[in-house]
Amino acid sequence: MKTIIEPFRIQSVMPIKMTTRAEREAAVRTADFNLFRLRAEDVMIDLLTDSGTSAMSARQWAGVMQGDEAYAGSRSWFRFEAVVKDLTGFKHVIPTHQGRAAERILFSLLCKPGHVVPSNTHFDTTRANIEAAGAEALDLPVAEARTPGLVAPFKGNMDVEALRRVLKEKGRERVPLVMMTVTNNSGGGQPASLENLRAVRAACTEAGVPLYLDACRFAENAWLVREREAGQAGRAPRDIAREMFRLADGCTMSAKKDGLSNIGGFLCTNDDRLARAEKDLLILTEGFPTYGGLAARDLEATAIGLEEVLEPDYLAYRHAAIRYLVERLDAAGVPVMKPAGGHAIYLDAKAFLAHVPPHRYPGQALAVALYVHGGIRTCEIGTVMFGRPDPAGGPDRPAALELVRLAIPRRAYTQSHMDYVLEAVQEVFAARASLPGYRITDQAPHLRHFTAKFAPVA
Ligand code: F0G
Repeated sequence: MKTIIEPFRIQSVMPIKMTTRAEREAAVRTADFNLFRLRAEDVMIDLLTDSGTSAMSARQWAGVMQGDEAYAGSRSWFRFEAVVKDLTGFKHVIPTHQGRAAERILFSLLCKPGHVVPSNTHFDTTRANIEAAGAEALDLPVAEARTPGLVAPFKGNMDVEALRRVLKEKGRERVPLVMMTVTNNSGGGQPASLENLRAVRAACTEAGVPLYLDACRFAENAWLVREREAGQAGRAPRDIAREMFRLADGCTMSAKKDGLSNIGGFLCTNDDRLARAEKDLLILTEGFPTYGGLAARDLEATAIGLEEVLEPDYLAYRHAAIRYLVERLDAAGVPVMKPAGGHAIYLDAKAFLAHVPPHRYPGQALAVALYVHGGIRTCEIGTVMFGRPDPAGGPDRPAALELVRLAIPRRAYTQSHMDYVLEAVQEVFAARASLPGYRITDQAPHLRHFTAKFAPVA
């Protein structure tokens, strides 16, 4: 059979409030045209993020009931630790309440002013935590990552030659670690190959610099390695994932993605001295090292999620949903990032709304239109998120790309929801010439996209 079905049936449901276009127009006006300011119940299909939005399985909910809420040494902790160690092979596992807590602990211990942390592409919290420690976050993606429409199998790879140059120039004194984000979220959810990870590993070993994975979407990366890398076809995703982790010296992890849980994360390292300092800091800000800011029930849910996420039937269905949307949109002439990545569809708003210049925020204009037209909430990743206001009051300095991300929550929506999204994007595309740009009427000095207020510009 050709049809790939959801490998689950649904036994517990959440109703979707159906809204009219007039209701959505009123809601988005009240939210000052910022989709972060909407009430979630006014959204019909919520593709804002795939983080913390997974549907948990019956097994995970059963695990929740078995959480051993002891302050120290709980049974749930030992279960969690065993699962993470078996998967990653790392010596020390430190639980945190989410990914950025792991980042903060790691970077505040390793990074100092004058340091540089290279990555294929840093996620924004990673970048912000490195910068908060006074260091520079340096993106070294491969060249093909910069062209949304270009089809290449591993656009999440790092430019290894560029990395070698940085390592040679700065040396281990100024490069405290190298990071690989798998999959590369800010670069379109694109995977990194095992071959590239091995080459990065070799460069780090020669320079004496540790390599860390930002491993949020490790299972999706493993699946795309199996699908796209020579010699990997048919290999168990679990085997590939284990190999990926064993190429690194440690990792940060947001379990809100491929942990299939609604909250949680961890930090791992093979370095005994560093682990000691990390645990001391953890106690100061997150909690005792056997719960790290989490309830034991969350540790249970994550331990089970980390196993379920590597089931081939699940990953096949997961990727089929993303690929379905990318291929259909591409066939309809809608500008979309290619090939399909691991967790999201990225519309190229610069090409979609060619009449809206960067300082009129084409990504924001498209995101608002998708909400008004179909009740679909998406996320602008463009000049609103990464552009900078001009101190002299001129137009913003634009971002490199103007993207709108449709992140697909795991196991939460069905094929008919995907068909609805497809239809809505195509209808908005047909009406694109009539869509207005926006201006910002109010903004915060940092991370303005979360709270900014907008008004349409005729
Ligand atoms: N690293 C990557 C690659 C991420 O995508 C995220 C979160 C984090 C780290 C931080 O993890 O949210 O648990 O603190 N990404 C979410 C997103 C927010 O929507 O892409 P966190």
